[in-house]
Amino acid sequence: MKRIVILISGRGSNMLSILEAGLPLEVSAVISNRRDSEGLHLARERGIETCTVEHANYPSREAFDDALAEKIDALSPDYVVLAGFMRILGNAFVARYSGRLINIHPSLLPAFPGTNTHKRALEEGVKIHGCTVHFVTDQLDHGAIIVQAAVPVLDSDTEDDLAARVLAQEHRIYPAAIRWLLEGRLRMAGGRVFGGPPGRGILASPDIADER
Ligand code: GAR
Repeated sequence: MKRIVILISGRGSNMLSILEAGLPLEVSAVISNRRDSEGLHLARERGIETCTVEHANYPSREAFDDALAEKIDALSPDYVVLAGFMRILGNAFVARYSGRLINIHPSLLPAFPGTNTHKRALEEGVKIHGCTVHFVTDQLDHGAIIVQAAVPVLDSDTEDDLAARVLAQEHRIYPAAIRWLLEGRLRMAGGRVFGGPPGRGILASPDIADER
């Protein structure tokens, strides 16, 4: 059975969606860079090994990355899954896990990398927003895209409304992407990922279903 390590920083809802998806995998450990991550408790409650590598304890980004890599390598996972892990990882770390390191981001990349994606989407007035699962490169929130889910932005939306609508889709696409990876269905060529099931239909927002 394939093994994954999940890296988190906070709440852990994406981690939970992976743990509860019934995927044919073993979660070797959940690692957080914050001791107070809520997700650590959720993982422990489910009998998953957890540990903390606190970035604040290391003098540099490289020293933190090295300590994290040491923990991960001791578990020899097939894939390293970033699930709300809010630290930028350096070149050496990313290169070490090249093709085995994936992330979820709450926007339709390449739009809105970084933080506050829902606030920025509302400010820009986009009508469609969403989330992306991608392989990780050394650029922030960048890399070959495995799957994206789009949601409409409604006139009445607050930032919280939009975040909740996107998060519900995050919880669907991340387990799906991991399943495809485990099944060996995905292949990368020219910076693109191929092999997922074909997309169906369109999402128009505002809806144009009744327009001629
Ligand atoms: C999720 O929305 C995830 O997409 C985002 O952090 C949140 C973590 O929530 N990740 C990023 O912004 C990465 N750039 P969770 O801890 O409940 O999964």
